[in-house]
Amino acid sequence: MRTSKIGMAVIGAGRVGPNLVRNAMTTSALDLKYLCDRDFSRARKVLGEYSTVVPTADLSQVLADPAVEAVAVATPAATHYTVVMAALEAGKHVLVENPLAASYRTGAELVATAADRGLALMLDHTSCYTPAVTHLRRLVQSGALGDLQFVDSVRSNLGLVQPDIDVLWDLAAHDLSILDSILPLGVYPIAVSAQGSDPIHAGRACVAHLSVQLSNGAMAHAHVNWLSPTEVRTTTLGGSLRAVVWDDLDLSQRLAVYDRGVERSEVDVLDPDTERAARISYRKGDMVAPAVPEGEALRDVMTEFVAAINQRRSPMTDGHAGLRLLAMLEAATESLASNGAFMPVEADLDDPANHSGIAVLVPVGTVR
Ligand SMILES: NC(=O)c1ccc[n+]([C@@H]2O[C@H](COP(=O)([O-])OP(=O)(O)OC[C@H]3O[C@@H](n4cnc5c(N)ncnc54)[C@H](O)[C@@H]3O)[C@@H](O)[C@H]2O)c1
Repeated sequence: MRTSKIGMAVIGAGRVGPNLVRNAMTTSALDLKYLCDRDFSRARKVLGEYSTVVPTADLSQVLADPAVEAVAVATPAATHYTVVMAALEAGKHVLVENPLAASYRTGAELVATAADRGLALMLDHTSCYTPAVTHLRRLVQSGALGDLQFVDSVRSNLGLVQPDIDVLWDLAAHDLSILDSILPLGVYPIAVSAQGSDPIHAGRACVAHLSVQLSNGAMAHAHVNWLSPTEVRTTTLGGSLRAVVWDDLDLSQRLAVYDRGVERSEVDVLDPDTERAARISYRKGDMVAPAVPEGEALRDVMTEFVAAINQRRSPMTDGHAGLRLLAMLEAATESLASNGAFMPVEADLDDPANHSGIAVLVPVGTVR
């Protein structure tokens, strides 16, 4: 285990880059050396006058510096392939903002290059590192909820209508990355259906409903909306033993775990009129609101990135997680163009968490 700091650079000083800079600077295992933006004035403005971090517009200068071992990429999605590939080819570990690339195909090239070179490639799926999602993951993967029966999410607000992506790629991407990170081993998405509308003629879907068929027969659903007057961020997960409601805007009770559900009893009743009533019963037990600590998820993203580099293991949200998300989003886009028909989700056969039936070793730290 190394003890020296990891030399790092942040690429991109727009909306997201400054958050990466702040969290890199407060992560003791990282030594932030550069902030690079092709608009030099942005990089300089973010750093201010007295920083020891070097502002630059020259990416090749950053990538040629052997003191830089890792980069965090926060440039627009359309540039990710070029910037990330250049960083990997220069031998740098990479943390990249979502999405990994503009397409599954180009994302797969990045994953293969990182694997060939033994470099960490991590997605900043920030939502997956929030304390609430960490708690949800434990509930699902420990079996505390029983068999997963459904996932229902709403993510709506008066949102920024993005110039280059629709509401699915902007908002549903969060729900899908969370779904990917909490599903129990052996349960995976098989098909996606999406329906959307563009009532303000923005040129892309501003309101959408997305359904994901899971391999265990359960359904995950997300409703995403840029036009809603109020902000809603809720997810309900139903299991055969318990259900949990996550309201991310309720600071006093983000999570509520219900011992409530519907059960079919195995009582044999010969009278067909009473058979159904006899077999369905309702469980109405207690609700528990677990204490969920507050914390900045991006700090935990940095910590996981450092651990993956130092321990030479896959980060929790590795390149394959980025590909799984791209596979779902591409299926959603195809479905949107086909009036909501279910489209199969591409399987990544090189994924250590793949479901092809081929035995694979799951590296330490990989959740699924
Ligand atoms: N993690 C999240 O929750 C989250 C939220 C919003 C956006 N994002 C993602 O973060 C990324 C950045 O988004 P943003 O809103 O900060 O974008 P932005 O447009 O505000 O900033 C991007 C910056 O990158 C610079 N840039 C562009 N190409 C470059 C290059 N080749 N080399 C160096 N600098 C370059 C631009 O000059 C700009 O300053 C996007 O991929 C976006 O999808 C993630």
